[in-house]
Amino acid sequence: MKILLLGKNGQVGWELQRSLAPLGEVLALDRHSTDFCGDLSQPERLAQTVLSYRPDVIVNAAAHTAVDKAESELELARCLNATAPAALAQAAAEVGALLVHYSTDYVFSGQGDRPWQEADATGPLSVYGQTKLEGEQAIVASGCKHLIFRTSWVYAARGGNFARTMLRLAGERERLTVIDDQHGAPTGADLIADVTAHAIRQLMQPQSASLAGIYHLVASGETTWHGYASHVIAQARHIQPQLTLKVTDMAPVPTSAFPTPAQRPLNSRLSSHKLQQAFGLVLPPWQQGVDRMLAEIL
Ligand SMILES: NC(=O)c1ccc[n+]([C@@H]2O[C@H](COP(=O)([O-])OP(=O)(O)OC[C@H]3O[C@@H](n4cnc5c(N)ncnc54)[C@H](OP(=O)(O)O)[C@@H]3O)[C@@H](O)[C@H]2O)c1
Repeated sequence: MKILLLGKNGQVGWELQRSLAPLGEVLALDRHSTDFCGDLSQPERLAQTVLSYRPDVIVNAAAHTAVDKAESELELARCLNATAPAALAQAAAEVGALLVHYSTDYVFSGQGDRPWQEADATGPLSVYGQTKLEGEQAIVASGCKHLIFRTSWVYAARGGNFARTMLRLAGERERLTVIDDQHGAPTGADLIADVTAHAIRQLMQPQSASLAGIYHLVASGETTWHGYASHVIAQARHIQPQLTLKVTDMAPVPTSAFPTPAQRPLNSRLSSHKLQQAFGLVLPPWQQGVDRMLAEIL
């Protein structure tokens, strides 16, 4: 099997380099790659990469993910999140490749408290959410065989992440304020990459075309940023009792306490029921992945 991976150095892309390796030959690109174009700001050259490499599977882990910056970079965000996936999808249809793509809880309005299901009406609140939705719609409209995984609150051991930021602040301050009215599930890039590899394997079997479509892929359970931060601090103290953390007061605050250019959904709960049923997978509780990541970074 020949796999083309785009965005190889992002949180998910990095883990995909590991999880896709046993499936076959992986051509992993980033925006600076020279032999083949992996730059989402050049959709036509990206399509050329597909037409000349002729992969069986394309996995697109690249995107414009700077949610606040996107508010003032509509054209760039639209190019990376919608036009480039559209070009990939058309090229995938032409060569008969499966296109695997990632999307987000931000395609939803955040209203209510029920976990969103795949067929629920979308209603993005931000440029990021809107352009990611346009990317989904272009892929579906292209008619290519596709898997679109909507995920949320992605973290990885590598690079900066929310847990690292909380640990640093907890080392510096006695009091922290953390948002407690956004609800969702922290989801590890490693889990997303592993599930992706399982799903690709199943979709590449004969008679499995009906498995194609949009799926929610998040760890089980739910929390708030405040619940997440509290868990990180408690677990860090448990793993490393000698760690000096000054924080004694973690104050829950509403989203309005931290104004940002992009509006975030309050209800980011995603139901992964469809994914678990279709692929026979079990998604572990969010704490399991976070604890593992903490054990790696501490
Ligand atoms: N992070 C989250 O919380 C979250 C939540 C829901 C859904 N998602 C979705 O999950 C997917 C993976 O996200 P992630 O967390 O792994 O994101 P990430 O760590 O921000 O990685 C995104 C990657 O895209 C690359 N990129 C940016 N502009 C590019 C361009 N013009 N051409 C090629 N590559 C470019 C970046 O490269 P550079 O490093 O060179 O900039 C980076 O490696 C995305 O589709 C995202 O929308 C993420």
